[in-house]
Amino acid sequence: MSCVVAVVGATGVVGREMLRTLEHRRFPATEVRALASARSVGSRVPFRGGELEVKLACAEAFDGVDIALFSAGAAASRELAPLAALRGAVVIDNSSAWRADPACPLVVPEVNMDAAKDRPKGIIANPNCSTIQMVVALGPLHAAARLKHIVVSTYQAASGKGHAAMDELITQTRELASGAEPTANVFPGSLAGNLLMDWKSGSLPDWSEEELKMVHETRKILGDASIGVTPTTVRVPVVTGHSEAVHAQFHRPMTASEARDLLRRAPGVRLFDEPYAPGRHPQPREAAGTDEVYVGRVRDDLAVPGALNLWIVADNLRKGAALNAVQIAERLVGG
Ligand SMILES: NC(=O)c1ccc[n+]([C@@H]2O[C@H](COP(=O)([O-])OP(=O)(O)OC[C@H]3O[C@@H](n4cnc5c(N)ncnc54)[C@H](OP(=O)(O)O)[C@@H]3O)[C@@H](O)[C@H]2O)c1
Repeated sequence: MSCVVAVVGATGVVGREMLRTLEHRRFPATEVRALASARSVGSRVPFRGGELEVKLACAEAFDGVDIALFSAGAAASRELAPLAALRGAVVIDNSSAWRADPACPLVVPEVNMDAAKDRPKGIIANPNCSTIQMVVALGPLHAAARLKHIVVSTYQAASGKGHAAMDELITQTRELASGAEPTANVFPGSLAGNLLMDWKSGSLPDWSEEELKMVHETRKILGDASIGVTPTTVRVPVVTGHSEAVHAQFHRPMTASEARDLLRRAPGVRLFDEPYAPGRHPQPREAAGTDEVYVGRVRDDLAVPGALNLWIVADNLRKGAALNAVQIAERLVGG
């Protein structure tokens, strides 16, 4: 059976990871099309030991496409995803364009794959990277004891902002090491040797767009609008791998021991199941280039009985973006 896949944004950091993921997981595509903007037409991206020539992402490029994996930003997605869907493709979109749309399911396969069945617009949204890793870890705990309130602080890598941001962190780090003042074009200042809150402001004036995404997307994926979510999102000088410190309260008390039992069996999770020791915890450098969501530092809260604290780390380009999208595609193709 033929299965034609288009990767829109194939020259970007997530698009390239999508191509690698399709290849490594031996996704049964009979044809893969690499699409991007006019800027990259004619360039080449590596795939299956060879190269794909990048073509223009336009309506005709989706003729005959079964699955369109989008990672080209919200503006391109708003314009092109409906055109791809109109031509019969199932769109799996990595941008924020469709996540809040009630007619577009927001899917993390380990948590709510069933939601993908109902897709009246032919578009399935891939959640924000920081939300994906959090719900992979909290989903099984929610199923057991119902989450009441989550307080989360993120430590987000530069690659979460795309390839230009990754390059800028590397340049800034060299500049700082040589005693020069780091130059900032992508970030609103130096990320090297520093922490930034660099997201756009959200619809509430005191909150960043990233923080509000974590609130709304967590509720939508877990199917419970009553869950309280209090995020603070922070960019850290790490190239790849987002980390999160999470405090979770439940409707019925949950112990760290019960949580560890659940997390040991949770799909997509690797549990660091040992007492505290310096340096023995999930780390972004170790998570980078791997598929799992790493969970460690699972602790009973000292002040709130029945509440937990966890440390959650994952590769933002893989489980936070490309892998999650390809896993959705695999489940669609597998029936
Ligand atoms: N980075 C992450 O960790 C992450 C995680 C989750 C979701 N996402 C989302 O994934 C998307 C891509 O992010 P990224 O980090 O890969 O960014 P990136 O490295 O800057 O790449 C952007 C890609 O989008 C393409 N593009 C831009 N405008 C386009 C247009 N009008 N038509 C077709 N292609 C267009 C670019 O093509 P050209 O080469 O032609 O410019 C490039 O391939 C964003 O929506 C982002 O929010 C990223």
